[in-house]
Amino acid sequence: LGLKHRNSFGLDSMAEFAYEITSADQLPALMKELRDKKLAWRVLGGGSNVILPESLPGATILINILGQDLVKSDDTYSWLSVGAGVNWHELVSWTLEHNLPGFENLALIPGTVGAAPIQNIGAYGVEIGEYIDSIEVFDSTAHAFVTLPQEACQFAYRDSYFKQNPNRFIVTKVIFKIPKSWQARLQYADLAKQFTESNSKPSAKQIFDAVCTIRSKKLPDPAVIGNAGSFFQNPIVGNQQYEQLIKEFPNLVSYPDATGTRKLAAGWLIDQCGFKGKRIGPVGVYEKQALVLVNHGGGTSKDIMGLAKNIQEEVLGKFGVQLEIEPNIL
Ligand code: EPU
Repeated sequence: LGLKHRNSFGLDSMAEFAYEITSADQLPALMKELRDKKLAWRVLGGGSNVILPESLPGATILINILGQDLVKSDDTYSWLSVGAGVNWHELVSWTLEHNLPGFENLALIPGTVGAAPIQNIGAYGVEIGEYIDSIEVFDSTAHAFVTLPQEACQFAYRDSYFKQNPNRFIVTKVIFKIPKSWQARLQYADLAKQFTESNSKPSAKQIFDAVCTIRSKKLPDPAVIGNAGSFFQNPIVGNQQYEQLIKEFPNLVSYPDATGTRKLAAGWLIDQCGFKGKRIGPVGVYEKQALVLVNHGGGTSKDIMGLAKNIQEEVLGKFGVQLEIEPNIL
């Protein structure tokens, strides 16, 4: 099966075998078959955070488990159970239509609900990990379904227990726990400045609209130009290194992080090295946001990885900071 239209980078990739899963009960038999045949496997969700090679040997499992249900509610919380194949942005819209605000800062993030907890998607000061009650997975090691509570998921910046243990778990369902006492989350300057004194108390829907506006201005639409969102993580440095950097580069853009550390804007670092809008063969750096690598058409994972290496070397040379690639390299 050709995967060009199943990855947002639009990379040409051929899966040796592909299996579509529309219901979790199909998994035990499939995983037994793969184990008996000793076939390698991986899961592909929305394909919006992966770099696919030209050929993928073994089994590629396409998760298309749909459906969302409000399963429980008390005075303080609502619990929402969602299939791993549901489109993330459509879920955000659905929650707002059903008076379950909380996810609006995470509007327009591409990908599926099942992929969201793996890299703990986050934007504009909110990370999905904080809204997760538990996650239903098929554990290929135990060959059984397991429900992992939030505490077991080890959520951190763009990280989780699932990301730390690749090729072990297949997410089938995510149970969200949404507080009923909603509060606007506007600590991220870019978002806050959308609301002026005349509207300093925006509704969840107004925040949703503002996030959609900001993202559409800065981030390329994968339907038009191939990309996987931020290509690098924002690097975290110690306070000492931060003090040295800010002395040498007074315009350095950074965010406060945990005590003793500082998160740097990787986009700024890359931009300073002159990469913004640069094109190398079929791939390049997006003209409006240097953190996003793009495929202008016909690029392969080799082209992307070559450009990534070039950027990493320049940033390391100029700032002494190592950039880590954010999407999964399959
Ligand atoms: N900047 C530049 N030049 C650039 C890009 C950025 O100077 O080319 C500077 C600007 O000062 C800008 C700042 O860097 O204000 C930060 O940029 P932006 O607000 O676009 O956010 P980011 O730190 O680059 C992160 C996430 C995004 C998320 C936004 C908003 C990571 C790796 N990326 O980007 O997530 O949407 O914050 O919260 O943490 C993604 O993961 O795919 C993604 C898009």
